Parts: sequence; C-alpha cells; structure tokens
Amino acid sequence: MQVKKMKFRIKQVSQKLDLPVSTIRYWQQEFTEFVTPERTNGGQRRYDDKDIEVFERIKELVYHKKQSIGQTKELLGTNGRPEEWIDWSDQTILLTGGTGSFGKHFCRQMLERHNPKVIRIYSRDELKQHEMRIEFKDDPRLRFFIGDVRDGKRLQRAMEGATMAVHAAAMKQVPACEYNPFEAVKTNVHGAQNVIDAAIDTGVRKVIALSTDKAVNPVNLYGATKLCSDKLFTQGNAYAGKKGTRFACVRYGNVIGSRGSVIPLFLQQKESGTITITDDRMTRFWITLDEAVELVIKAFYYMEGGEIFVPRIPSMRITDLARAIAPDCKVEIIGIRPGEKLHEALTGEDEGRNTISYKGMYVILPNMSWWERENYQDGEKLPENFVYTSDTNDAWLGVDELHRIVYGEEKSAAKKTRVKAVV
Ligand SMILES: NC(=O)c1ccc[n+]([C@@H]2O[C@H](COP(=O)([O-])OP(=O)(O)OC[C@H]3O[C@@H](n4cnc5c(N)ncnc54)[C@H](OP(=O)(O)O)[C@@H]3O)[C@@H](O)[C@H]2O)c1
Repeated sequence: MQVKKMKFRIKQVSQKLDLPVSTIRYWQQEFTEFVTPERTNGGQRRYDDKDIEVFERIKELVYHKKQSIGQTKELLGTNGRPEEWIDWSDQTILLTGGTGSFGKHFCRQMLERHNPKVIRIYSRDELKQHEMRIEFKDDPRLRFFIGDVRDGKRLQRAMEGATMAVHAAAMKQVPACEYNPFEAVKTNVHGAQNVIDAAIDTGVRKVIALSTDKAVNPVNLYGATKLCSDKLFTQGNAYAGKKGTRFACVRYGNVIGSRGSVIPLFLQQKESGTITITDDRMTRFWITLDEAVELVIKAFYYMEGGEIFVPRIPSMRITDLARAIAPDCKVEIIGIRPGEKLHEALTGEDEGRNTISYKGMYVILPNMSWWERENYQDGEKLPENFVYTSDTNDAWLGVDELHRIVYGEEKSAAKKTRVKAVV
C-alpha cells in the first residue's frame, strides 16, 4: 500500500516551527530553490515533510548559527556538509586595518549577523580606534590593539589565541605609494610577511588577505606591492608545516564610497561646477562594502589554501558616474595619470588556465604541485585565455543605478518626480 504524503498549510508549518507565518512566507520567497511546495488548484501552497525539514535547517542556521540569508543559501547548497560551517561564536578574529572602511564594515556585519567571540582590531592610530570604540558603543566583543604590521613581534603578541585572521591593513593610495616607495614596500610586502609568520607561529587556522584589481598586471607600485602580497599569501601555505595554517586572498575592484575613492572627490568637485575626468573611455569594477564582507566570509568557508577568490561584480563607465553625481557640471578631461589604467582586470592572462567559475565567483586556484582540488570538483573550468576585465564585463551599472547608489533610493525617487513635474 502506498503511504500518502502529509501536506501542510502555511499556518500549520508556522505552528510546527514555532515561527510567525510572515517569517515562513519570507523564507519561502528567499529559498525557492530549496523549499518546493505543491500548489492546489486554487494556487495555495501545500508543504510536505521534506519542506518542513528544510525550514528547520534554515531556522537552525539563521537563528542559532547566526548565518545571513546569503550564507544560509550557500550552506543549504552544499547539501549540509556540517564541517564547512564555521561556528563564529567560537572564533577569535584578528583584523589588521580594522579601523578602515572595510574593517569597520566587517565588524558591523560580523557583530550583527555572526556573533563572533572576539574581534581584535589591529592598527596604528589611537584616535581612529577611540572613535570606533564610541561608534560601536563599547561592544565587549571588540578589542583594540595598537600596532603596526611592520612590527612582527607586536603582531605575534596580538595574534596569540586567535583562530582566524583578516589582513586588511595597507597603504592603498596610488600617488602616496609612488612618492614613498620604501614605505609602501614596508607596509604592503613586509607587513604581509609578518602577518603570515605570526599566524603560523601562533597557530591561527585560516587567514584571508585583501587584494585588489590593481595587483593584476600592475602599472604602479601600489599594485606591484599587492601582487607581492598575493604571492606571499598564496604560497604562505607551504610554510605552515604541521601548524596547518591556511592562507587565501580575496580580490576585488573599487569599493563604492570608500575613503579616498572617486565618489567623495566628484561630490566635492560638484560644488565648483567642474568635474575632472582623466579619460572618458575609462571603466572600473564596482563593489559594495556589503559584498566585500560577504566575499571574505564565503572565502573562509570554501578555502583550502592558496586560492584567490574573485567576485562577479558590475562595471561602470567613469563618465556615467560623473553624469549620475553632477549632471549639470562641466566635465574637464585632464589626461590619464602615471600609474593609471584605462580598464582594470581582476584575473590576468596567466591566471586564466587555473581559474574556475564556482558558486557565483571566479576562483583562481594555486598552480602548485602540493595542491589538491578537494572542494572544487563541481567548479566550471574556464577557457585557457580567460580574463575578467572591467571593459569586457557583461554586467554594467547605468547612470540611474549609480545615482541611486550615491544618493540613496529616496533622493533618486525625488529626482524622478521632479523631472516628471517639469515635463
Ligand atoms: N578601498 C578600495 O577601493 C579597495 C579596493 C580593493 C582592495 N582594497 C584593499 O582592501 C583593504 C582595506 O582597504 P580600506 O579601503 O579599508 O582601507 P582604509 O580605509 O585606508 O583603511 C586602512 C586600514 O589599515 C590601517 N593601517 C594602515 N597602515 C597600517 C600599518 N602599517 N599597520 C597597521 N595598520 C595599518 C589603517 O589604520 P591606521 O592608519 O590607524 O594604522 C586602517 O585601519 C586594503 O588592503 C586595500 O588594498 C581596497
């Protein structure tokens, strides 16, 4: 005799899970790949035991493991290999450059969503740390360490007892690196080596370093030092020996609105009535801080050691950004500057043959004899000459989207209403 499957209405599901119907509805929308109820003739959803099991797992991940919706999707996608979970409430994270644009956003996201045991901020300037402490309302999960990445001994002391590390500290202004090359090398190259040494010596489990598109075929010293840093981190695994510390990088392009980026510059220039652009053909990759943080967390899950994780992100034309910020301003073309490229690349020609498409990212795998491709069996191999560049990207941000990003939803909507009224 065939056993008839039980079917439940959404209200019954909510009672079984002890959650409001609205939460079940929201999860239904977010997890359509995983929850697949039948529809009655009248179009109503009917859930079976399998759907309830998936909801229970979502509840466990979101409520108890404090995973974001994005990460929960990822974890469900791995068919529940629990060894890939990171229980952040058990982790002490050492974060170099914790007071910078990325660092602060990383802390905000981690504290709100993942509840880590402790995040140790490591940076030089006491004022920035003081301001951050106030901004984060003295959150007891944040600890502040004054230190320079050039100082290996201090770094080692700060890393004692940490289980994870994120290396975000860097000199990142192209002109400052050009003008002070010894300093750029000390911070970005020697600093990277110190982070690797300290992580291995103190038995940190996993380390993610932040790279940049400027490290691909570098034309300036900033890019060249970050390329060295990438090489040190991807090869750092070979130095770990029995300690087993694992190192990987994430690499992305311009962060929307970060300190020293073009948006604050254009906003300032807008006041004068003239915006300066170096070349009107120029394109750039764009990523939000949210996406950058998600990428780092994702990399912690998947990394085996030696990879460079590259997100799939949109490009924009610099002229579109100028139009979005200041449509009425005069645009002055001032010519490309030394150390500047027309277009950026996130993977280089030589990296193409080791790059795979995996879980919505490109992953540049290490080309080393010691490396075994365990996690990436279902990654899609890319053509030998694959490159990912800002001018050949298939995703673009237009003027309207850029306007929304810079000014927010409300102002964009107001602008549209004003235009309509004038018409
Ligand atoms: N912003 C972007 O568009 C972008 C794009 C791609 C990649 N990245 C990479 O992302 C990382 C973070 O960038 P960000 O935008 O957050 O930079 P940021 O806002 O300039 O912050 C840099 C952080 O590093 C610290 N720092 C600098 N030199 C240090 C040193 N010698 N020792 C210890 N700490 C030091 C700074 O604090 P103190 O000055 O107090 O030490 C600050 O906390 C960098 O590695 C950068 O290369 C950035």
